[in-house]
Amino acid sequence: MVDVDPFIDEKIEEISESVGDANAVIGLSGGVDSSTAAALAYEAIGDQLTAVYVDTGLMRKGETDQIRETFDYMDSLRIIDAKDRFLDALEGETDPEEKRHIIGEQFIREFEEVARDVDADYLVQGTIYPDRIESEGTIKSHHNVGGLPERIDFAGIVEPMRDLYKDEVREVARKLDLESIIAERMPFPGPGLAVRILGEVTEEKLDVAREANHVVEEELTEYEPWQALAAVIGKATGVKGDNRVHGWVVAVRSVESRDGMTARAQEIDWETLQRIQSRITGENETVSRVVYDVTHKPPATIEYE
Ligand code: XMP
Repeated sequence: MVDVDPFIDEKIEEISESVGDANAVIGLSGGVDSSTAAALAYEAIGDQLTAVYVDTGLMRKGETDQIRETFDYMDSLRIIDAKDRFLDALEGETDPEEKRHIIGEQFIREFEEVARDVDADYLVQGTIYPDRIESEGTIKSHHNVGGLPERIDFAGIVEPMRDLYKDEVREVARKLDLESIIAERMPFPGPGLAVRILGEVTEEKLDVAREANHVVEEELTEYEPWQALAAVIGKATGVKGDNRVHGWVVAVRSVESRDGMTARAQEIDWETLQRIQSRITGENETVSRVVYDVTHKPPATIEYE
């Protein structure tokens, strides 16, 4: 485990030295990694840092408000409402890798605009050790901002947490007083709810996924999963009132892991599973079925796409 106090001092010094008098940008995703990197960089260079949060419309419930509150102290925080642009770009696309690609591209476009506007020479990234390992392989095209360095001519990339594991990042986050909701929050993929929706991303499926993920996070926190999630995986016949309906199938998944590279499906008690089922089908008219995913990684991945 990393020794947190010296780590923070060392990184603050390192960031100030690398960036000097120049400007830097960081993309906030709402997750603990980018939030911690942003907090560290802000300690180091203050308002020379512009934190950019792109609201893709693929975020978890309440995520944008949470970011606004948590980083309220940064004058240079920019929140960009890009929901319509992301949905338009994704319209009709069903291929998982293409969806990731479209999201990555759109993200870069949004980000580039700010980076140019503030004349940023440096890019700060919340990359952690397992990201680097997975990106080296060909398991999935991983990073939400992976294309940035090629597209924008940054003088340098700063990755203060590149050697840390997730649990170490959380330690650093707690030390930096990041709100516990962020420090303890489950990891969330860059492409957001789009990888928890099989096939085309539509507003209807997004609403189902957002609400279902909220229920699952709330109900399963006590199991302390590495990640608990809900995915919209298709349609199936059900009965609502007196009518047969063709409604959405929501898969619930909860896994234990240290670094996301392998994972074990968690054993959840029946009562909790039933409560999740009843909340998800009750809160959304269009959901006809909830299933629990018992597959470990491998052979499955944690996310659905
Ligand atoms: P998989 O689904 O590959 O996920 O088993 C392993 C871990 O990585 C997260 N993940 C991502 N994180 N950008 C990210 O920043 C991505 O494109 C991405 N895809 C998966 C996933 O949530 C899990 O924690």
